[in-house]
Amino acid sequence: MEFSSLSKPIVESNISTEALQKYKEEISTLPKEDGWSPLIHLCLYKGFWFYPYFLEGAMYAQDHFQPQPSDIFLCSAMKTGCTWLKSLSFAIATRGQYDDSTSPLRTTVPHDCIPFLEYGEYSTAEGPRIPLVASHLPYTFLPKSIIDSGCKIVYLCRDPKDTFVSMWHFFRKLENNRPGEGDLVSIEEAFELFCKGLSSHGPYWEHVLGYWKASLERPDKILFLKYEDMTKDTEACVKKLAEFFDCPFSLEEERKGIVQAIIKFCSFENLSNLDVNKTGKQVKKDAFVENSAYFRKGKIGDWRNHLTAEMGARLDNIMKEKLSGSGLTF
Ligand code: A3P
Repeated sequence: MEFSSLSKPIVESNISTEALQKYKEEISTLPKEDGWSPLIHLCLYKGFWFYPYFLEGAMYAQDHFQPQPSDIFLCSAMKTGCTWLKSLSFAIATRGQYDDSTSPLRTTVPHDCIPFLEYGEYSTAEGPRIPLVASHLPYTFLPKSIIDSGCKIVYLCRDPKDTFVSMWHFFRKLENNRPGEGDLVSIEEAFELFCKGLSSHGPYWEHVLGYWKASLERPDKILFLKYEDMTKDTEACVKKLAEFFDCPFSLEEERKGIVQAIIKFCSFENLSNLDVNKTGKQVKKDAFVENSAYFRKGKIGDWRNHLTAEMGARLDNIMKEKLSGSGLTF
């Protein structure tokens, strides 16, 4: 992949209101269940639960998105560490252009450096663009054009207990941004829903399994990573990513400490303390997300502070059963 002369993507949705109307109508006919918020239902579409907002963009992408064969997709279920993966990938891919002191990650939340496919933020940029696109969509939902074009995919997953706890805190934060509109369900109720597969882009195990199986079938095209491995051996993961992007670190770069510099710059400690991530906001339609919501603790095993050992064991057993025979474990 050629990473020279990249421009920052313009992060604006280009999905027109008219185009969305068609999908809104289709979504209104789907089976619904109460979700984690009393106000927004989860809709069941082809075996996965979605908030309508994400589904509209997903349907639009399926019909309209045309990738470049060199595009690389950073895929993940929600709250598995996508902000970190985006930061590392951006820093790796643009290291010829920027260093720590000039990186757009200093002043731009990682989600605006690498936009999401399903927000329709991909095709507004004129001229060269960063060939990295993110998505929370399940594998079977990725636009066919992505698979047909042979695009590479990185998939990041995480221990389901930490993912669940992270998700509950994230949605609670979003809910607090809409005062007077109702509260998020308790963590115990949300846990029951999660165990039934009812969560944004859930069932979580189906999301993970889809990419896992695809990575076994097409290992040259799909790099499967775990948050826990990224935490325990970040250097190995960063090198693996660079190789997968076809821009491995040279000996000279290693000698100069570029790998370590990227790891340090993209660490939770550093990114979460940047002004943009402490005080900035992302405005999405009528809602907003504080950038700080993407940085909570960044630890393995925080679930123990929020779930009982029994709850943890129950979710572990569900995962074990659902993943049995696949070769994948957490
Ligand atoms: P916690 O809520 O457990 O702290 P996503 O980026 O997919 O939304 O996932 C968010 C999770 O990744 C949060 O987990 C967040 O704190 C963690 N995270 C964000 N930036 C990180 C970083 N640079 N390093 C490690 N973890 C990070």
